[in-house]
Amino acid sequence: MMSNKARFVFDKDYVISKIDNRIYGSFVENLGRCVYGGLYDPEDPTADSDGFRQDVIDAVNELNVPMIRLPGGNFVATYVWEDGVGPRDTRPRKPDLAWKCIETNQIGTNEYMDWLNKVGAEAMMTVNVGTRGILDALNLLDYCNRESGTYYSDLRVSHGYKKPHRIKTWAIGNELDGVWQVGQQTPFEYARVARETAKAMKRQDGSIQVVAAGSAGQEYPTFGEWEQTLIQEAHPFIDYLSLHQYYLNVEQDTANFLAKTLAFDDYIKSIGSLIDYMKVKNKSKNDIHISLDEWNVWYHTRKDDMASIRDRGEDWPIAPKLLEEPYNFEDALVAGAMLIALLRNSDRVKIAAYAQLVNVLAPIMTDKNGQLWKNTIFYPIYYTSKYGRGTAIQGVIESPKYDSRDFTDVPLLDAVAVLNEDETELTVFAINKSLKERLDIQCDFRSFGQLDMIQHIALENSDVYAVNTLADPKRVLPTEKERAKEAGQLSLEPLSWNMLRYRIK
Ligand code: AHR
Repeated sequence: MMSNKARFVFDKDYVISKIDNRIYGSFVENLGRCVYGGLYDPEDPTADSDGFRQDVIDAVNELNVPMIRLPGGNFVATYVWEDGVGPRDTRPRKPDLAWKCIETNQIGTNEYMDWLNKVGAEAMMTVNVGTRGILDALNLLDYCNRESGTYYSDLRVSHGYKKPHRIKTWAIGNELDGVWQVGQQTPFEYARVARETAKAMKRQDGSIQVVAAGSAGQEYPTFGEWEQTLIQEAHPFIDYLSLHQYYLNVEQDTANFLAKTLAFDDYIKSIGSLIDYMKVKNKSKNDIHISLDEWNVWYHTRKDDMASIRDRGEDWPIAPKLLEEPYNFEDALVAGAMLIALLRNSDRVKIAAYAQLVNVLAPIMTDKNGQLWKNTIFYPIYYTSKYGRGTAIQGVIESPKYDSRDFTDVPLLDAVAVLNEDETELTVFAINKSLKERLDIQCDFRSFGQLDMIQHIALENSDVYAVNTLADPKRVLPTEKERAKEAGQLSLEPLSWNMLRYRIK
């Protein structure tokens, strides 16, 4: 096999930032089989005494998810949170207009908090400002966070939850620029709503932090203007600006698909510049960080799902199969590269969420009777979440480059390093984007001194379209590679995602 030559330098002094562990967050929405049939299925043999699937809890625990955004997503646009609290047998069934389904409300705020406790995650709670508004957000906040002594806090106590949930992070709506959204708003309308909602919520509970909704994506008409107007109006009250990014590969062009993560870097950096500009313009002291709270690959099921929703007529199903992406090997490479980009931008991005967690656009898939398998994207997420905690270190990378359909000068080597908390290990996450050629890398670790490689995990496959299924759950699995004898040398297989752990002597 032919090989290319590359070089990287990592030095202790090239610090990007201390990594906020919440970048390993995820997203759970009342959509398809994410909640019903995913998190919750009292009929399943693995169900615990609350009806939650223990096999799913175990898999989520493997991913070590610090924060989970919920309950939507588009679902939130017509959600009435009061429907999902109190005795279950009196909870109303309601049409969910986002996904054209019936919501049974069997899982609501308190059950969500119970489940989050089981997986050791904190909540990012999204409020409905599209069809409800400020008062509704305040009532939910009071229900969740006040000890007792008001109507809504006492209502929570009467529902069996004596202790407040004390949710710290609150998101003001979701993708309100989207034409598909019930309650779509113009940039100025949303900016005012976000400002007034955040202001009132912070007046009610000074301990909370607020995430304001950015555009649904860079491709939408008001992108840029939306963010600028929002910060202009609401600067003092916003802690995080939410960004969303899904990548598609409808052309089945692997080289171009892998190159798209360059655009992901640019997206984060350009919003970072806008935030800086607005800080100067508004003479503000408030640093707004980025919450990249929906990121992933999404295209395999998109067209058929959207058609089935549109053409469903008067059939309103409960928890149907929707957005169940059979992620293939190249999707896992892109997910791995997106994680590398998040680490590289960890000075800006303090919260992120792969969308979503179970069954819907998910690393974890379930079927009835305690059957669970791991989509390909599970593995880069698992390893990056496990070993990507500490301080992110910028690499200086010299690599051959390629051109693709939409990009020029795409480096074959993409890499970032993480120094762990106690500074005993350096972990490099690296991708070789070459379709056919191995990459021989000369590694320069400068002030880290002498290193010993202690582990090389790689995700490789000869078939970019290989997927894991219930019947064949092990087609795409990471492997433990032979360790390089000298820390200064490294060889990566073509089309591979790699994790290299080095002990610092
Ligand atoms: O994650 C699926 C959907 O994608 C979410 O509901 C929405 O916010 C986004 O458009």
